[in-house]
Amino acid sequence: MKRILSGIQPSGAFHIGNYFGMMKKMIEYQDQSELFCFIANYHAMTSLTEGPALSRGTFEAAAAFLALGIDPNRCTFWVQSDLPEVQELTWVLSTLTPMGLLERCHSYKDKTARGIAANHGLFAYPVLMAADILLFQSDVVPVGKDQKQHLEVARDIAIKFNNTFGHTFVVPDAEIDDEVAVVPGTDGQKMSKSYGNAIYIFTDRPTLKKAVMSVVTDATPVEAPKDPDKCNLYALAKLFLAPGDRQALRQRYTGGGLKYSDVKKELIELVWNYFAPHRERWDHYLANPREVLDVLQAGAEKARAAAAPTLADVRRRVGLAYR
Ligand code: ADP
Ligand code: TRP
Repeated sequence: MKRILSGIQPSGAFHIGNYFGMMKKMIEYQDQSELFCFIANYHAMTSLTEGPALSRGTFEAAAAFLALGIDPNRCTFWVQSDLPEVQELTWVLSTLTPMGLLERCHSYKDKTARGIAANHGLFAYPVLMAADILLFQSDVVPVGKDQKQHLEVARDIAIKFNNTFGHTFVVPDAEIDDEVAVVPGTDGQKMSKSYGNAIYIFTDRPTLKKAVMSVVTDATPVEAPKDPDKCNLYALAKLFLAPGDRQALRQRYTGGGLKYSDVKKELIELVWNYFAPHRERWDHYLANPREVLDVLQAGAEKARAAAAPTLADVRRRVGLAYR
């Protein structure tokens, strides 16, 4: 059975781009593979410097994952910093990571290009990510397109380590689902919490309504036929529709007479109803935080046991185990 691993940063509420791009797949993998899923709170520190926001965000990220269907009995689910061991591996890997490899990373380059002063954590981010992946001998890492390059870095580092110290790590494969590779935001750009264009999963109805109503559409007159594949409203709606319903909506687009405002109203219902059962569980976890914390504690122990043999092997190979 393949071992699948992925993490998500707890740096704000989750939106439907996060859900369809990453979380949903993780939840489905629980039945098909050996899943490792964690909250990347160390990574979030590269952009978040408010302690209370990080700790609250970490709790809420865990509660959201549980509410959306992560089941600790069918996977290993933990918070990254509950296993500080990953930092030791990060250091070991960083001594093998060429500067140039990190200098080429878009996520770092883009931020510096936008004038964001880069800290060393942001620069070293891909090495910590490689440690997350390699510590658990992951075969497959499902991520959005934006993380593809980080996966390549992890592979390069794994290969370099294996060549230097003998075969130690599984070289992981990225898995990018082209169907939902990029979920558009309300403005048609990639949905992101940093662009103010997100539709959030656990939100109240008026806020959801406001977000959906603000989805940008073109000025094609009502009577004219429209191309669903050029419409971000359709791109969003299709995520919530079964194939037959998708087809029916496509026909309304191409047949003419479709009002974007009708599709918007339908989309509000689709999103609201889709997440209704999860919203109940979300409310339950917010009211019963102890349940979440207990799950995370047990998850950290399970993750630690899975990581221990690899870390011991690494320490032995590089010469840290000198006794
Ligand atoms: P954000 O852009 O809102 O800050 P993150 O970068 O924290 O989101 O992404 C968390 C996860 O969700 C990653 O696996 C990422 O690839 C995925 N993801 C984020 N936004 C989208 C999107 N618009 N479409 C598809 N996947 C996304
Ligand atoms: N960098 C990823 C993101 O921002 C989160 C992440 C951290 C991750 N460590 C990982 C994803 C390991 C996959 C595997 O989305």
